[in-house]
Amino acid sequence: MAKRTDWGLPHSAITPEEVYLNRRKFMQGTALLAATAVLPNPEYALKDAKLTKPELATSYNNFYEFSLEKGGVKPLAEKWKIPSPWKVEVTGLTDAKRSYTLEELVGLGGPLEERVYRFRCVEAWSMVVPWTGFPLYQLITKLKPKKEAKYVAFTSYANEKEMPNIKAQPHYPWPYTEGLRMDEAMHPLTLMATGLYGKPLPGQNGAPMRLVVPWKYGFKSIKSVVKIEFSAEQPKTLWNQLAPDEYGFYANVNPEVAHPRWSQASERVLDGKLFPTRIKTLKFNGYEKEVAGLYKDLDLKKNY
Ligand code: MTE
Repeated sequence: MAKRTDWGLPHSAITPEEVYLNRRKFMQGTALLAATAVLPNPEYALKDAKLTKPELATSYNNFYEFSLEKGGVKPLAEKWKIPSPWKVEVTGLTDAKRSYTLEELVGLGGPLEERVYRFRCVEAWSMVVPWTGFPLYQLITKLKPKKEAKYVAFTSYANEKEMPNIKAQPHYPWPYTEGLRMDEAMHPLTLMATGLYGKPLPGQNGAPMRLVVPWKYGFKSIKSVVKIEFSAEQPKTLWNQLAPDEYGFYANVNPEVAHPRWSQASERVLDGKLFPTRIKTLKFNGYEKEVAGLYKDLDLKKNY
């Protein structure tokens, strides 16, 4: 397998402020693909939140292509030979339709930066982690979708020889698919992540590139993306096809709307304790100020 370029690198010795100011100049062009440092974006530092321990965030995973057991994903994903070069097909309503290598997409979507986000699963557990990535709007802008494109659909890698649970769950509509409305995809918070805790994304967290939408339940944050499609119609998603009454298309974190199997009013912090800390869930996972405007004309109880 070809050597992986390091897409999630430790911080440099320069202060974040210094670099933030010069970030664009610093990280432009091919420099970002050479092993230059990726720097934290202080706008998304989440200073008051406690970071989840890396060993917890990288061993308690939902990646159903590998296993239904949270602890069962990592041992299998560690053995997974991540295809290299990684190819992503861009298709649908754009003239930029073709297959891109990961390097090309990072080149278009970068510069890379580090952002600390809250991450809340629909199963009512949560973590706070530093992602390395680029805001998706930077990539979409370069791919110039046509004006009829109202949605962006994403597809995960699926190979039943490499991912044992695909065959074991034949009733799942594989591959894993997800989607966003175009304005959600273009929101500055929506990130394409290539790293976690300053290192390249491990297999179990969705290597080598996954979506992170911090105001939505974690299942929207699709892993190991191999296809990006611009469409006029709302795309089908794996969970919505499997259990539409449980998993809506929007999936905005909302303590006021219970999931049929879980209250969403509070969440268990992934802290490794026998009796984990419970905290109240915040609307839009704490990003209400930034994203509530996207949904001002939408009934969030119906559009869960
Ligand atoms: N993407 C794929 N391809 N397969 C999955 O099973 N699980 C989702 C999401 N993305 C999933 C996926 C769910 S339910 C959650 S909560 C998050 O990934 C978990 O991400 P993490 O393991 O990095 O915490």
